[in-house]
Amino acid sequence: MEKLVIKGPTPLKGEVTISGAKNAAVAILPATLLIDGVCTIENLPNISDIKISCEILEQLGAKITWNNEHSITIDTTNITTTKAPLDLTSKFRASYYIIGAMLGRKGEIEVGMPGGCKLGARPIDQHIKGFEMLGATVNLEKGTIYAKAKKLKAAPIYMDIVSVGATINVMLASVLAKGTTTIDNAAKEPHIVDVANFLNTMGADIRGAGTDVIKINGVEKLNGGCTYSVVPDQIEAGTFMLAAVATRGDLTLKNCITKHLESITAKIVEVGGNVEDNGDSIRIWCNKRPNNANIKTLPYPGFPTDLQPQMGVVLALANGTSVINESIWESRFQYTEELNKMGAKITAQGKTAFFEGVKKLYGAPVYSSDLRAGAALVIAGTAAEGETEIYNLEHIDRGYENIEEKFRKIGAKIERVKE
Ligand code: EPU
Repeated sequence: MEKLVIKGPTPLKGEVTISGAKNAAVAILPATLLIDGVCTIENLPNISDIKISCEILEQLGAKITWNNEHSITIDTTNITTTKAPLDLTSKFRASYYIIGAMLGRKGEIEVGMPGGCKLGARPIDQHIKGFEMLGATVNLEKGTIYAKAKKLKAAPIYMDIVSVGATINVMLASVLAKGTTTIDNAAKEPHIVDVANFLNTMGADIRGAGTDVIKINGVEKLNGGCTYSVVPDQIEAGTFMLAAVATRGDLTLKNCITKHLESITAKIVEVGGNVEDNGDSIRIWCNKRPNNANIKTLPYPGFPTDLQPQMGVVLALANGTSVINESIWESRFQYTEELNKMGAKITAQGKTAFFEGVKKLYGAPVYSSDLRAGAALVIAGTAAEGETEIYNLEHIDRGYENIEEKFRKIGAKIERVKE
C-alpha cells in the first residue's frame, strides 16, 4: 500500500504546467472508435484512467502506439469485437462513452456498468433515453449494458437534466446518424466543446457545442489521419489556484485557458486572493487569511463540483463562517470528516456543509474517498502544521498526473511512501 506523507505548512510558490484535461481525454479516446483509420492524440494526461481507456480500446481491436507519455497514435481500422472487457469498463466512469461510440461504429456493444468515484447515485437514464431516441434498444442485465441499433436515425433530444456524460454520449452516437440531431439543455463544459472540436476535425458536423443547444448533422464517414491536442485541464488548474490561496502562496499556472477558470477566479477574489490573468497563464497569490464565502456548485459556467472539496479547504481556513451547497452530487462531503480530523470545524448535512473557519489545520492520517477529495487532502496537508499521511491514493492517481512531483516542484515537502 502507498501513502503520501506531507510535512507542512508550506506556502506553494513557483510555476506549474497544467496537463491535458482528463474529462476531455476520456471521451476523445473512445471517440476514435468512430473513425475507420489512424489519428494521433496529444497532450494526454499521464493518469491511470487514460491507461485503462487505452487497454479497453486495444481489447476492442484498436492498435495503439505510445509516441511519448502524453501522445498516442490510434489505429481503429480493425475493430474486432463488440464486447468490451467488463473488468476494465467497471473500473471508471467514462467507460460509458464506449456505448455511444460503438453504436455509431458497429451498431452494437456490450459493456459493464460504469464505475468511478462514489459520489452518490449516478444514474445513466439520460444516456439511455438519448440512445433510444436515436433508434437503439438498450437493456441492462446483471450489471451489463447491451445496446443495439440496426441503423441510428437523427432525433430531437431534450435532456431532463444537464449532464456532461449524456451530452457527450449522444453526440458520439449521432455523428454518423442520418439527419440532424438536436440536443436541448446540453451541458456546456469545456470538455464538451473539446470533444466536438475533435470530432469536427475528423470530419463531423457538430454546431453549438458550448451552448444549451447542440446540432449534429450526421455525416457518412469520418476521416482518419488527424493530430489533435487535448484542451488543458480546467479542474487541475483550479486545484492549483485554490492550493495557492489555502497555503498563502504565489503560483503561476502555464498551459491553461483562463476563460475556463472565471468562476474560480471570481471566488478567489471574493475570499481576498489576487489574480493576474495573462490569457494562457494565470498568477494567483494570497498573503493573508482568506475571507469567508458561500458557494453553490453548478454546471459550467457555474462553480464546478469537481473543485468543491478543494474550495472547502480554503473555507475551512477562512476568517468567518461559510456555506457550501453541493447541487450536483449527493455525497460529495466525505472529505469534510477527514478535514475535521485535521482540526477543521465543518458540519455537513445532506447537500449542504457549514464551515466555521479555523486559523490552522494540523497534520493527521486521512483517507481519500474519491479523486477530488484526495486533491483537497493534498492541499490541506500542505497548508497544515505537522505531518499528514494520505491513504487510498488510487483515487488521486486516476485523475492527477504526478501529483507529488508537481507539488514538490512548488515547494511542498511531499513523498510517496510504500508501506
Ligand atoms: N444524472 C442523471 N441521469 C443521467 C446522467 C446524470 O440523473 O443519465 C445526474 C447525476 O446523478 C448528477 C448530474 O446529473 O446529479 C450531473 O451528472 P453528469 O452526467 O453531468 O456527470 P458525469 O458525466 O457522470 C462528469 C465528470 C465528473 C463531474 C460531472 C459534473 C467525467 C468522466 N466525469 O460526470 O467528474 O463531477 O461530470 O461536472 O467527465 C471528476 O472528474 O472528479 C468527476 C467526478
